[in-house]
Amino acid sequence: MPIFRNVVSFQKHFVAKETDIYIASIPKTGSTWLKSLLYSIVNRSNQAISESPLLTHHPQQLVYSLETDIYSEAFDYPRPHHLDELVSPRLLSTHVPYTSLPESIKTSDCRILYICRNPFDTLVSSYHFHIAYIKNFINKEDLVIPSFEDTFEDFCEGIILFGPFFEHVLGYWKMSLEQPDKVLFLKYEDLKEDPAYHLKRVADFIGMSFSPQEESEGVIKQIVDLCSIKTMKELDVNKNGVINKFFEKKSYFRKGEIGDWTNHFTPSMVERMTKLMEEKLEGTGLSFKLLA
Ligand code: A3P
Repeated sequence: MPIFRNVVSFQKHFVAKETDIYIASIPKTGSTWLKSLLYSIVNRSNQAISESPLLTHHPQQLVYSLETDIYSEAFDYPRPHHLDELVSPRLLSTHVPYTSLPESIKTSDCRILYICRNPFDTLVSSYHFHIAYIKNFINKEDLVIPSFEDTFEDFCEGIILFGPFFEHVLGYWKMSLEQPDKVLFLKYEDLKEDPAYHLKRVADFIGMSFSPQEESEGVIKQIVDLCSIKTMKELDVNKNGVINKFFEKKSYFRKGEIGDWTNHFTPSMVERMTKLMEEKLEGTGLSFKLLA
């Protein structure tokens, strides 16, 4: 699978800088949202929010993914000639589990923002993203739509891109406890509940805190509003076209809710996933909110 080639290239060739900021996540946990928030925090003094490049670029085109953009042959928008030509701090993202990150990321003083989401909604979101991809890019004759039941089974067996899910989340959770200055652990559900509070946490963590003047001028609210799913979904740039040949831009913005899993899970699925989650998270101090 080409993605593994990309990951190996990333592991082999990438050299981190201590000023880098990475967004790490398992797919479909809100990384596009976090990209738009991070980009806005970092660039707020160069650009007025009303002139933000987010109004004309998909967030995935402003914070590059290391394995699906930088180290991919499918990368199809202006590629930075060299990673070193990206302005500092370089904003980059990855889905690679902590243990498989290149050594230079693990040993440098760079920062990592990890975003996760409850496994129920992550699974539902992955399922819909996958279906959208299959419907658009697989020949009609080859079209085999997986059932939600099979996708659920795979997820519980640990078969999910960049997974297993719990090992991925716990790897970064552990690092956020051991090295809180290096890894900031964020949950999608918390961000939904109080985006302004978590925006400030991110700004503090990367050393770009909002000033009292910015707070009183409403900069935080402007960023939260710009990056909301409602605004992002309505922008023409996010409605049409594809990213990296295969992924429709609009498929990154679906419902953006906590608890859509209640429309998909049978009672026995709820029981099995709850049990799995309890077993995996026992004694870790980590828990997830399942409903808004
Ligand atoms: P749903 O499929 O549940 O709607 P990722 O960006 O990591 O691929 O995650 C995609 C999920 O985040 C999708 O969830 C998507 O709708 C949601 N999302 C994208 N932008 C968002 C935003 N600005 N606010 C809240 N959720 C958002």
